Amino acid sequence: MSADATRFDGKVAIITGGAGGIGAATARLISARGGKVAVADIMIDRAEGLAAELPGAIAIHLDLESEASTEAMIATTVQHFGRLDVLHNNAALLGPDIAQQDGDVEHMATALWDRTYAVNVRGTMIACRAALPHLREVRGNIVNTVSNLALQGHLIQAAYSSSKAAIIQMTRAIAASHGKLGVRCNAVAPGMTMTPALREAFPPALRKVVEDETLREQLGDPEDIAEAAAFLASDAARNVTGQVLVCDGGGASHVPGLAGFRSFFSGEH
Ligand SMILES: NC(=O)c1ccc[n+]([C@@H]2O[C@H](COP(=O)([O-])OP(=O)(O)OC[C@H]3O[C@@H](n4cnc5c(N)ncnc54)[C@H](O)[C@@H]3O)[C@@H](O)[C@H]2O)c1
Repeated sequence: MSADATRFDGKVAIITGGAGGIGAATARLISARGGKVAVADIMIDRAEGLAAELPGAIAIHLDLESEASTEAMIATTVQHFGRLDVLHNNAALLGPDIAQQDGDVEHMATALWDRTYAVNVRGTMIACRAALPHLREVRGNIVNTVSNLALQGHLIQAAYSSSKAAIIQMTRAIAASHGKLGVRCNAVAPGMTMTPALREAFPPALRKVVEDETLREQLGDPEDIAEAAAFLASDAARNVTGQVLVCDGGGASHVPGLAGFRSFFSGEH
């Protein structure tokens, strides 16, 4: 083990969705801490652009909806680097079009539900299944990205939020089945995080609603989530498994209606 347990010297990490906002920040951080990264994404041009900036990194085209593509991601990484220490399942079916279709259950399109589960739940399971034999060899670990929405009810995104809750239970199942085999499995649950995509797409009035319920002065940025994911992936978290690390500026940690209480006690009601 390195003297600094937060470092990744000699280790290899796959980051799915590594071309996106949070995934790219995590790939940069693990690389800066000495790890070799495989940036896996359906947006291969962006993955290649990032990999070119990071010493020894590779880009892999990944479509999590495809079993063959997901298994090939693991095989390609092990073939290239000779080992796999960290699988970071960060990719998810996202975007303004998807979010617009993903409302409450009464109005849910079966096709949208199935696609969400195919990418988020089935894709994550297939990646874990293919990675586990390699992770066992090096006592590696898995970090799954979930969401604060997996832990709280909301008016919207019933498919997305319940798929993320399924990943939390998969996290615990893997931690239980593989802990004695030397493999840890944890999840990081971001709250609203200001990625370039969200900065562009999220309505400012709704952003204010979230900011008011956040205990920190500002919303998190991708680097904040990267720090939490990298901690879980590192030996610094060697005694942590089967856990969900909520990284949301305290949004999920207080009584309902805190923004209203704040306004009441400050006399603004
Ligand atoms: N940004 C937030 O506010 C927030 C909040 C809670 C949870 N999260 C979670 O954080 C993770 C990263 O989100 P982000 O905000 O960086 O989003 P993003 O859209 O910037 O990145 C997601 C990446 O996943 C990739 N991807 C999508 N479908 C894929 C597929 N089928 N195969 C392979 N790659 C695919 C995209 O190309 C993209 O690069 C996601 O799991 C998301 O659910 C984000």
